[in-house]
Amino acid sequence: MANQRKILILGANGMLGHDLAEIFFDQKPILWDMPNLDITDEFAVKQKLADLMPSLVINAAAYTDVDGAQNQPDLAFKVNADAIGYLAVACQQLGAILVHYSTEYVFSGNKDTGYQEDDKTDPLNIYGQSKAKGEEILKQNCEMFYLIRSSWLYGRSPQVGKPRGLNFVQTMLKLAGEGKEINVVSDQFGKPTYTLDLAKKTREIIETQKPCGIYHAVNEGVCSWYEFAKKIFEIKNISANLNSINSDQYPLPTPRPKYSILVNTKLEPLRKWDEALRDYLRQS
Ligand SMILES: NC(=O)c1ccc[n+]([C@@H]2O[C@H](COP(=O)([O-])OP(=O)(O)OC[C@H]3O[C@@H](n4cnc5c(N)ncnc54)[C@H](OP(=O)(O)O)[C@@H]3O)[C@@H](O)[C@H]2O)c1
Repeated sequence: MANQRKILILGANGMLGHDLAEIFFDQKPILWDMPNLDITDEFAVKQKLADLMPSLVINAAAYTDVDGAQNQPDLAFKVNADAIGYLAVACQQLGAILVHYSTEYVFSGNKDTGYQEDDKTDPLNIYGQSKAKGEEILKQNCEMFYLIRSSWLYGRSPQVGKPRGLNFVQTMLKLAGEGKEINVVSDQFGKPTYTLDLAKKTREIIETQKPCGIYHAVNEGVCSWYEFAKKIFEIKNISANLNSINSDQYPLPTPRPKYSILVNTKLEPLRKWDEALRDYLRQS
C-alpha cells in the first residue's frame, strides 16, 4: 500500500525538505523546489499536479525570513497564504492528501500555559499573519490535510549562501569559532526542534493514518535562546564567550513572541530537545 503512493515533496531544497527527502527516500518521492515549481504560480500548480497525479503532497516550501516578511508582506502572503490555496484546491481535485507546515509564530506568545492545537491564532508579525492566513485557506479548500505546526527548527541542510543564512546552531558555532563575544536573549522561550525528528513524525502521522487536522510536532522541553546556545557549547565542549541579555538590549525590527510554546496533546511525544540536539551535533 505504502509503496503504491506517489509522493511529491515541495521545498525539497530547504532545511525541512532535505530531511523529508531522506525520511521518504525508500518511497522514491518526487522532489521539487524552485525552479521546478513556483507554488505562487496558480496555473503551473494546477497543471503540474494534474500531470503528475500525486496521492500525497508534502509542502515544506515557504517564505521563512521573519524580518524579510515585515518588509515584503506581499511576497510573504503570496507564498505562505495564496499558494497554499492553489495547492489545497489542486489536492482536493486530485483526491490527494496535503501535508502542510506552520509555526508557533501564528500565536502571540502571551499565554503562559502555551498553545494547544485548537487555540485561536493571534500573530504578532507579518510572517505569523501570512502563515495563519495559509492555515485558514488550507482548512477551507481541502478536506484531506495534515497541518503540522513546529518551532525553532534546525537541521542539516547547508544554508550557506542562502539569503536567510545559517540556522541558530550553525550561527552559534560560527561565532564561537571566530572568538566573538556572543549575546543571546534569555527572555524568549520555545521548543527547539530537529528537522529530522519532524520529518520522522510526519511519516508516522501519515502511516498511522491519524485523523486529518492540526498537530503540534515539537521536541519536548522548553528553553530560552540563551539556554539553547549554552547547551550547544556544553555538548561541543566549547568554552564560548556567551552572555545572557534581555530582548530590549537586542532590538530586532520585528516583534517576536516571548513564550512561543506549542503543546502537543495529540501525538506520541517527540524526544527531548537536548537529546535531539546532541544527535544533530554528533552528525554535523
Ligand atoms: N525555520 C523555522 O524555524 C521554522 C519553525 C516553525 C515552522 N517552520 C515551517 O516549516 C516549514 C519548512 O521551513 P524551513 O525552515 O525548512 O524552510 P526553508 O529552509 O526556508 O525552505 C523553504 C524552501 O521553500 C522554497 N521556496 C520559497 N518560495 C518558494 C516558491 N514560491 N515556490 C517553491 N518553493 C519556494 C525555498 O527556496 P529558496 O531558498 O530559493 O527561497 C526553500 O528551498 C515552513 O512551512 C516553515 O514556515 C519553520
